[in-house]
Amino acid sequence: MELRYLCSGFHMQMKLRMRALLLAVGVGLLWAQDGKALFQANCASCHAVNRRVVGPALKGVHERWGNDEQEIIKFVHNSQAYINGNFKNSAYAKKLFEQYNRAVMTAFTGLSDAEIKAILDYIKAETEALAKAEGGQATGAAGAPAASSAGGGSDISPILWVLVLALGAIAAALLVATLALSRLLRPESEEGKPSLWERLRPIVTSKRFVALLVLVGFVWWVSATTVKARSVGLHKGYQPVQPVAFSHKTHAGEYKIACQYCHIGVEKGKSATIPSTNICMNCHTYIQEGSKYGKKEIAKIIESYETGKPIEWVRIHNLPDLVYFNHAQHVKVGGIACQTCHGPVEEMDEVYQYNDLSMGWCINCHRQTKVDLTANPYYTRLHEQLKEKEVTVERIGGLECSKCHY
Ligand code: HEC
Ligand code: HEC
Ligand code: HEC
Ligand code: HEC
Ligand code: HEC
Ligand code: HEC
Repeated sequence: MELRYLCSGFHMQMKLRMRALLLAVGVGLLWAQDGKALFQANCASCHAVNRRVVGPALKGVHERWGNDEQEIIKFVHNSQAYINGNFKNSAYAKKLFEQYNRAVMTAFTGLSDAEIKAILDYIKAETEALAKAEGGQATGAAGAPAASSAGGGSDISPILWVLVLALGAIAAALLVATLALSRLLRPESEEGKPSLWERLRPIVTSKRFVALLVLVGFVWWVSATTVKARSVGLHKGYQPVQPVAFSHKTHAGEYKIACQYCHIGVEKGKSATIPSTNICMNCHTYIQEGSKYGKKEIAKIIESYETGKPIEWVRIHNLPDLVYFNHAQHVKVGGIACQTCHGPVEEMDEVYQYNDLSMGWCINCHRQTKVDLTANPYYTRLHEQLKEKEVTVERIGGLECSKCHY
């Protein structure tokens, strides 16, 4: 009797521990995944952990910042404010900025402190994994394969896999032990019935169950890889500092200058075009002093005009070469307002990228937007053929690959 109570207490404890363990594994994985996903979505276009991309390799960044995570978080929120401000590491950040040819890192005002911390935790974990892998390579053969795959930046960090497998094995061992105990401790009255393990065994060892496990693993791998692949090259929120403090808020907002006055290509062809200095000089021949910066900024326009050296505006929106996008088709034919795609530009002192310009973004709009057939004679014939009241862009072929891809 005594022994049985003791044992069932032990049995309970085992059950609780196993649950806690599974929970911890789950939460740990979620957290690591979270930081990684955030890194892939926001930082991977310019950073890798172990090599230089546009920005520096981020391994060991904690040490370079005197292990003061709070300072790194401030920097990530707005690197330009940090560089030009008077913070603890501003001098270091300024030097780094010069070293990287004054390439401006995107400001991440939309990320919370906790999200940046999750990213930094991910970087820290990767740094440690790299250090370990390098150590293993130096001491013997055993560490070498792990090192090479970590160095290659494989999809799901091998360290994570090893962790999952190890914890999975422990969980399985505990499960078997618990089931064995429950068989031992079964009360006499239940002696005749099959035990939990006896009932579960045919299921767990069946081919279908194994196939299911493999399938779940595969789906996870595919979704993780897709999330990573889809975020490559997208720059929503990108807001570089421009060579002249030109403000759309002043020009398009306050003074209500039409977008087409400067972006002369927008109704005529593929490209909206950035205005040449000549267009600015239409007004700035006369207006040589601004209310905010005095003569300083406008002097740059005059200098460009006199020397013939164009102002080197930093391009913000940039689709990959394989995509064909035509402004006139959307603005003139489709009648879509600039703001639908570019956001409230007339309120922006500095322009930033408002939409992610992903393929999904183009496709969604083509699925939903009805083509205005009445205002456009081009569609009269098409309209008759289709004999439908509402025609979306999709119906006129707006989802065909070759329409958007060269
Ligand atoms: C548009 C490119 C770009 C993006 C996107 C970007 N960075 Fe940067 N990052 C840079 C550049 C360039 C530097 C070098 C300093 C500079 O030029 O301001 C830098 C520097 C850093 C540094 C300092 C590195 C060191 O060695 O001290 C940290 C930390 C950092 N970035 C974190 C991040 C994080 C976190 C994200 C994502 C939330 C991110 N960056 C996204 C370009 C980028
Ligand atoms: C007085 C001239 C002028 C007017 C008017 C003007 N822009 Fe611009 N626009 C510029 C210049 C110069 C740039 C390049 C510098 C910059 O990005 O701020 C630019 C850049 C842009 C960009 C980013 C281009 C890139 O690099 O990807 C967009 C989008 C844009 N303008 C949209 C608009 C819209 C929408 C309007 C009307 C609401 C408008 N602009 C009115 C001069 C003008
Ligand atoms: C249709 C007339 C017009 C055109 C074209 C024009 N501007 Fe202006 N710009 C103005 C006016 C008006 C002001 C406001 C002056 C003030 O601040 O009182 C101004 C102010 C400025 C300022 C000074 C801001 C300040 O407060 O110090 C800059 C810089 C500037 N413009 C750049 C440009 C550039 C670059 C272009 C060409 C891409 C351009 N402008 C084209 C009318 C124009
Ligand atoms: C249907 C969405 C959409 C609309 C509407 C739209 N744009 Fe764009 N715009 C884009 C995309 C996408 C790009 C990037 C093009 C590229 O990289 O080839 C872009 C790029 C630009 C650029 C960068 C330089 C260039 O010539 O490509 C400017 C400037 C610009 N747009 C201004 C405007 C103005 C002004 C209007 C309104 C008159 C407008 N856009 C309407 C989607 C749009
Ligand atoms: C805000 C809605 C919207 C977005 C976003 C948008 N489009 Fe469109 N697109 C339209 C409309 C509306 C038309 C139809 C214009 C017409 O011919 O009447 C169109 C037509 C087209 C066509 C011609 C299709 C045909 O069959 O003639 C191409 C190509 C195209 N878009 C490419 C793109 C690409 C590439 C992107 C993303 C970078 C994009 N569009 C984003 C609304 C949008
Ligand atoms: C309405 C316009 C549009 C249509 C239709 C469209 N795409 Fe795209 N596609 C895009 C844009 C925009 C991008 C770039 C997004 C980015 O920057 O990642 C893209 C990117 C891609 C990429 C990724 C390329 C790379 O280097 O990452 C592939 C692959 C692709 N498209 C295949 C297709 C196929 C296949 C179809 C037909 C079923 C198709 N697309 C139809 C607009 C379109």
